[in-house]
Amino acid sequence: MSLTLQPLHPLFAAEASGIDLARPLSDADLKQINAAMNQYAVLVWRGQPLSGQQQIDLTKAFGPLDLGLKKVFKRKERLEDEHLIDISNVDAEGQVARRDSPKNLSNFANQLWHSDSSFQDPRAAYSMLHAVVLPSWGGTTEFADLRAAYDALPERTRGEIESLSAEHYALHTRILLGDEAYTDDQKKAIPPAVWPLVQTHPGSGRKLLFVGVHAREIIGWPTAEARIYLSDLLEHATQREFVYRHEWQVGDLVMWDNRSTLHRGRRYDIAERRELRRTTIEDVPEARLMAA
Ligand code: OGA
Ligand code: MN
Repeated sequence: MSLTLQPLHPLFAAEASGIDLARPLSDADLKQINAAMNQYAVLVWRGQPLSGQQQIDLTKAFGPLDLGLKKVFKRKERLEDEHLIDISNVDAEGQVARRDSPKNLSNFANQLWHSDSSFQDPRAAYSMLHAVVLPSWGGTTEFADLRAAYDALPERTRGEIESLSAEHYALHTRILLGDEAYTDDQKKAIPPAVWPLVQTHPGSGRKLLFVGVHAREIIGWPTAEARIYLSDLLEHATQREFVYRHEWQVGDLVMWDNRSTLHRGRRYDIAERRELRRTTIEDVPEARLMAA
């Protein structure tokens, strides 16, 4: 079978079917999926119940796995393979995490508009998020199309941001959420990354507006002016017309391109279990992302 695509939104995001993700991908599969990712930026696969190992194998077919903040903060985790990122409110012992736990702090940070690992160099290319246990209400995930955001910018703004770069810092969201107890050594272990505000997506050739909540400075600008401008740009990029909202079903796997979209989780009752597993690849030259 070959890939079938059903658009889910007027601008981006499609439901993908016709390929069994639990089995090794052929080169032709890989090429088709990459071409679809270049066009749609978010692909939703329904009814693909993958084991952790199957998800890791699937992800590795596209490029090297990213560890995100786990590179720096080693924490006792429930899932065995450190490349499987536990997007859940469950602690290392398997219990629903305390309301004020570090686990939930990470979950709340995920409810701010972001691109995974944009605070690192290399940053993330694709992420794949797989639903295992879902709460009875809420907990949807939203995606925003940064290419559409760029296309809709006024000419004046495009000119203004053309050669600007922003600094993305991992602890910016944590500090925003009131978590400030980091030692100097910890801070030094996570230097910020700098990315141009305007980028051309290598797979599609489309220009995009690369913002997100990790961006905390514009290089060469006073902080206050930069933060206001960054928050204006983020508000522009995440207006409702540019957003696809995903309602999860168990067994869904959603793939997105962190280089052309932002995402955020939405509120749910954190006393109820929510378990998803994420794998992410690094945006490095050896990643197999082009649909040549
Ligand atoms: C992620 C993330 C949001 C959510 O897995 O990277 O931001 O809805 N998840 O869980
Ligand atoms: Mn994320």
